[in-house]
Amino acid sequence: MGQGTVQTKTRHQEPRDQEQRQKGQPDQEPTKSDRLRIHNLVTRDPRTGLAEDVRKGLAASPKRFLPKYFYDELGSQLFEAICLLPEYYLTRAEEEILRNYSDEIAAAVEGKKTLVEMGSGSATKTRLIIEALLREQTELLFMPVDISASALESSSRILLQSYPRLRIEAYAADYFAGMAELEKSERGRTLALFLGSNISNFPSADAVRFLKAMRSVLHKGDALLLGADLKKDPATLEAAYNDALGVTSAFNLNVLARINRELGGNFDLRSFKHHAFYNEDKGRIEIYIQSLLDQRVRIDKLDIEVDFAEGELIHTEHSHKYDEAGIDQLANATGFVRTKTWVDSQGRFSSNLLMAE
Ligand code: AVJ
Repeated sequence: MGQGTVQTKTRHQEPRDQEQRQKGQPDQEPTKSDRLRIHNLVTRDPRTGLAEDVRKGLAASPKRFLPKYFYDELGSQLFEAICLLPEYYLTRAEEEILRNYSDEIAAAVEGKKTLVEMGSGSATKTRLIIEALLREQTELLFMPVDISASALESSSRILLQSYPRLRIEAYAADYFAGMAELEKSERGRTLALFLGSNISNFPSADAVRFLKAMRSVLHKGDALLLGADLKKDPATLEAAYNDALGVTSAFNLNVLARINRELGGNFDLRSFKHHAFYNEDKGRIEIYIQSLLDQRVRIDKLDIEVDFAEGELIHTEHSHKYDEAGIDQLANATGFVRTKTWVDSQGRFSSNLLMAE
């Protein structure tokens, strides 16, 4: 995944100025709490990264966008809606595992722990792990990293209200910038979470790069709980990415809407459609935006015009599916050992405990 230039800036309680806000919406008073710090590592001008990557992606062949650009404020909420869809079994399957085995997961790492999470989003499933840790220890430091400052702010507020013995040190950043910061932080024993099959967006070389970076954040005896969606029949997989209500389509096309909003694009969303299918050879869902006609789109802030042919595909996301061997391969290539795997009752999703060697 391409990493934009990052500028380190620590600020307290005001991450939302980095994201689009709707006009007329009153500023919400941020929670005042000495238990919360949010470090904002997103570029000062949030449009720089997007602008550069959109310019590059539309010049490439085939055209492509990066999955991290799904998650503006609206996109993050559309993703939360995806997690509620009947077809999108991943979230419920992982939640079932965490509900049943959180104590076992917490006990797999010895001693008092700090909890780290990459791509925490709404941190709903994280609550199950937080509760297990707070059954074991009197206080807990939670260090979430998420690309969406708005998601971090609202999830932190809710968690702090629920758990008086929790402290949060949050990083609004993409994964690699977040891990660079975490590496500098002094932590005791750490349990890190990478849930929801978030790893699935990485091509395998990048998954290795990610896990190596994660490994250097951790110390021997620390662990990473890796959520990975499992290979299964194509019909079930394809339904999960082609829901009847069209939420996944909205989530995908929101990238065009975001370019319209933030970069002055004039994409007509009705002239494009969501396209997702399972590539069984590659073991991954492939997601594209398809142009329904020959058309030219202008993007004012980039000062470009881009042609799309009827039927042309813009690649937006890969979602890789795993099996035990694939997870072992990743672990073994990156300084981890898979010591335990839990699956849900229908065998759809896996939670893998990778111990840092
Ligand atoms: C957040 C990457 C795990 O691949 O299932 C859901 C994103 N895209 N529906 C996934 C997604 C379309 C999701 N991950």
